[in-house]
Amino acid sequence: MMAKLGIFDLAVRYGKLTAIAELSFTVAEGERVFISGPNGAGKSSLLSAIAGSVRAAHGRIEMDGDILSGLGPEAIARRGLSMVPEGRRIFAGLTVLENLTVGTGMRRDRSAVADDLETVFTAFPILRERARASAGALSGGQQQMLAIARALMTNPKVMLVDEPSLGLAPKVVDEVYDRLCQLQAVRGLTLVIVEQSSARAARVGGRMLLMRGGRIVADGDATEFAARDLLTEAYFGGAA
Ligand SMILES: Nc1ncnc2c1ncn2[C@@H]1O[C@H](COP(=O)(O)OP(=O)(O)OP(=O)(O)O)[C@@H](O)[C@H]1O
Ligand SMILES: [Mg+2]
Repeated sequence: MMAKLGIFDLAVRYGKLTAIAELSFTVAEGERVFISGPNGAGKSSLLSAIAGSVRAAHGRIEMDGDILSGLGPEAIARRGLSMVPEGRRIFAGLTVLENLTVGTGMRRDRSAVADDLETVFTAFPILRERARASAGALSGGQQQMLAIARALMTNPKVMLVDEPSLGLAPKVVDEVYDRLCQLQAVRGLTLVIVEQSSARAARVGGRMLLMRGGRIVADGDATEFAARDLLTEAYFGGAA
């Protein structure tokens, strides 16, 4: 089977600091992969390098056999890969509608934009309701939905989502994941999601890559990681 996404010997450096060190993995079409690991492990750097918003020092990134490495974020988005960045990065002073359409200037086909907007509004009815409201007035969960919806506006085949649960109450996190899974089922999306909680990842279901020091140190089903974390907690009282 051909991999949807292939990362080969990827390295990311910030000056002398190596954030990602010779990292490789592949993701199959329609797969859901969680990336976990401690703060500073390189999770965001990995996603940003794949999406083209951080330059890789070394390595090759392929999607469907197409080489993405060396392209900028807009060119990568046009090829069908988009990212929901850590911290959501919505424009609080713009309306919901403006947030969704601000990146579509590069696309000349207005009717396609209208179609994508309709699809996104169907997936997120709350965003249609609040289309004219300022994005800053939305709740945290709604802002996360908006960030996801914005990434969907380029009609991606692969979506990278950096810590969607950050700062949200567990019930709201449930909603965000319900929506992501639903989108995946309906659109056949390939999803790579940074998620710190292995328990959460296990509940949602999928594969998990564990990162440490810019490398992948484990790769398996999320449920195995959750079981291991429970064991650690049982032995060390959660202090580990
Ligand atoms: N723009 C930058 N300039 C310099 N160093 C950076 C930059 N971005 C990240 N780093 C460093 O690179 C390493 C990896 O950071 P990264 O943000 O990718 O990790 P992370 O796993 O996403 O962490 P977190 O869980 O805190 O989001 C860290 O040591 C971090 O301090
Ligand atoms: Mg991060």
